[in-house]
Amino acid sequence: MRVPGFTSTGSKRPEALFGAGAPVGLPVRVARARGAEVWDDAGCQYLDFLMALGAVSLGYGHPAVNQAAHAAIDAGVVGPLPPGSEEQLAEQLAILIPVMERVRFLKTGAEAVAAAVRLARAATGREMILRAGYQGWLDWCQPAGTPGVPVALFGLSEALQFNDPERGRSMIRSLANRLAAVVIEPVVEEAPSLEWLAMLREETRRVGALLVIDEIKTGFRLAVGGATERYGLDPDLVVLGKALANGFPLAVVGGRRAVMEQARNTWISSTLATEFVALAAARAAVGVTIAERVPEHLGRVGSLLHDGLAALAERYPSRLTGVTGVPEMCGLRFHSEEDGVQLVRTLAHHGVLFKRSAYNFVSLAHDRAAVQRALDRLAQACEDLRWPAG
Ligand SMILES: Cc1ncc(COP(=O)(O)O)c(C=O)c1O
Repeated sequence: MRVPGFTSTGSKRPEALFGAGAPVGLPVRVARARGAEVWDDAGCQYLDFLMALGAVSLGYGHPAVNQAAHAAIDAGVVGPLPPGSEEQLAEQLAILIPVMERVRFLKTGAEAVAAAVRLARAATGREMILRAGYQGWLDWCQPAGTPGVPVALFGLSEALQFNDPERGRSMIRSLANRLAAVVIEPVVEEAPSLEWLAMLREETRRVGALLVIDEIKTGFRLAVGGATERYGLDPDLVVLGKALANGFPLAVVGGRRAVMEQARNTWISSTLATEFVALAAARAAVGVTIAERVPEHLGRVGSLLHDGLAALAERYPSRLTGVTGVPEMCGLRFHSEEDGVQLVRTLAHHGVLFKRSAYNFVSLAHDRAAVQRALDRLAQACEDLRWPAG
């Protein structure tokens, strides 16, 4: 094996999907993907709910996005000067998400969140960051003790408890004028409480810190303007990735002009941030998202999935403790890791790829029939496993 750990994307490791020591016969490599269906390298077909970890909201290989990407390839892929599509996409985003008055593009979500943190530190002249959720693999946000990360960095950011207004308020107040920003994922296994969100905005303003909403998973999914739109937030910076370009590598940090202008005072730059293909794909993906009212579709089919999972959890209370997430990105909670592993393995044998930890994602390519098919197979898998109903 030339790639340590099997693959360069941690959440796609066989054990991340199917648990340690997964038996042969389960899919480990994908050969092809289209719509909501994928084929592994043995030629087996699956109805997929992993959707490239939420990077695909329109379905795999959406024709309009592919067509735009092909045109960008034909135009030469990348050039010596920035393409006009960079400014055009920036304009499109500013219209759709008004807080994104100015933006900078990057390739990965981790880079874009790191850029937001850099901008916040530059704008405030402070160093401390409070963070909730996942922000990627880069040094600034790793938990204390992560091998290879300088110990000095662990002191510069602290984890914030999701949905705990009292604790959050006291952490922000005690850091006070040392706090540069609070960086949150707006959904961490459950929807945020409006009280928590309001506290974060009020308290960050009070101490002169910035509020950064990491919408890598929620952007163009919960609403066109992500969680910021759905929950009526007023952040200083927003970060988008994943669904932005429907699987092509692109992420963006954007926000208030005064903060974003700091990009000229510090150094945020990447050679391929301005290649043509992902920018073209994003422009097309955003167009489809608006024209087809994709977030509404995701809400509808996601609710069918979410409600079906909740009914399953009620039927098998000795194995399932409930449902996690929101309709557009949801999953089951299990009493034991082993129950989750057994369920997703059995489900794969029934032709459905389902995540046992983290979220399952619906897409424009998932219609009600596809979701119902998955729910029927989930019910069948529970019976195959002889889980006691009760
Ligand atoms: C909320 C959030 N932020 C940041 C990231 C990092 O994005 P990437 O894996 O593209 O670097 C992820 C990835 O899953 C994410 O979900």
